Amino acid sequence: MPEHLAIDIHTHILPADIPDFGRRFGYGGFIHLDHHRPGCARMMMDDKFFREVQANCWDPQVRIGESDQFRVQVQVLSTVPVMFSYWAKPQDTLALSQFLNDHIAGIVHQWPKRYVGLGTVPMQDTELAIKELERCKAIGLEGIQVGTHIEGVNLGEPRLFPIFQACEELGMALFVHPWDMMGKDRMDKYWLPWLVGMPAETSLAISSMIFSGLFERLPKLRVAFAHGGGAFPATIGRIQHGFEVRPDLCAVDNNVEPRHYLGKFWIDSLVHDPAMLQYVVDLIGADRVALGTDYPFPLGELEPGTLIRSMPWDDAMKEKLLSGAALQWLATERKRFV
Ligand code: CO
Repeated sequence: MPEHLAIDIHTHILPADIPDFGRRFGYGGFIHLDHHRPGCARMMMDDKFFREVQANCWDPQVRIGESDQFRVQVQVLSTVPVMFSYWAKPQDTLALSQFLNDHIAGIVHQWPKRYVGLGTVPMQDTELAIKELERCKAIGLEGIQVGTHIEGVNLGEPRLFPIFQACEELGMALFVHPWDMMGKDRMDKYWLPWLVGMPAETSLAISSMIFSGLFERLPKLRVAFAHGGGAFPATIGRIQHGFEVRPDLCAVDNNVEPRHYLGKFWIDSLVHDPAMLQYVVDLIGADRVALGTDYPFPLGELEPGTLIRSMPWDDAMKEKLLSGAALQWLATERKRFV
């Protein structure tokens, strides 16, 4: 049996060294790395500890070694969502985004068969965001990653529409990743922003894009949502029913039913549960569920590709989830990687 091509659409990377943006801009809140011993670094927000990371978070060679171990040929690279910095002054977020985007573009150019790059843009400023989106394409990135909201503005809001329209026009893929989770004031224990807030954020983002008519107006925009679409797939019955019984509340901007959009967008496979993976494949189709692992973080799939490979499916089906869905989302071809 020939080995399947495997493309992981959900992996995060940071530059090994991040300048002191706080000092440069004159205010705090930005992340830098404190390399406190070889192969280990602390992500620091000013002088506050945020997260411990290892070399696989910044070293492309280490990542390739680990990917080989798990038979993953291609990682789609995006920044760590805490770097979005939509709260900062737009020009400063632009400078930070350019630094991160240039870093990822450099890796993609050095290892074009192993990495695909996604950029980040200052979503809080539509004009700057579109400019940086255009630059991302020019430097060889194939899409952008955005948060599930922009400082409280949902993705379906009109202010953001021109950015998504530009994505469609430029043929740039869109990866929606939860960040700055809702309800934080009631989630200070048990890692709840990650366990409860993130799936809710993603469901809110999908619902906002459906109900606002964004998907309806941008049918060629290729959007993938992290973490198996969060809570959305499990609650589509409720969302559809709500649309039917209260169109006065739900169908105010778009009168097309939510179920119509199943199969129009992609999700990653990061659901940690074979029954759930089977369910989402049945719900939106095998060519809309792409391998995604959240590498190299602990809430991700620690042995990338294992859940898909363990499913009682034939080879053609596994191929779709391991790479077919990703190739369609990226609008690219298998042959460039093999
Ligand atoms: Co992630």
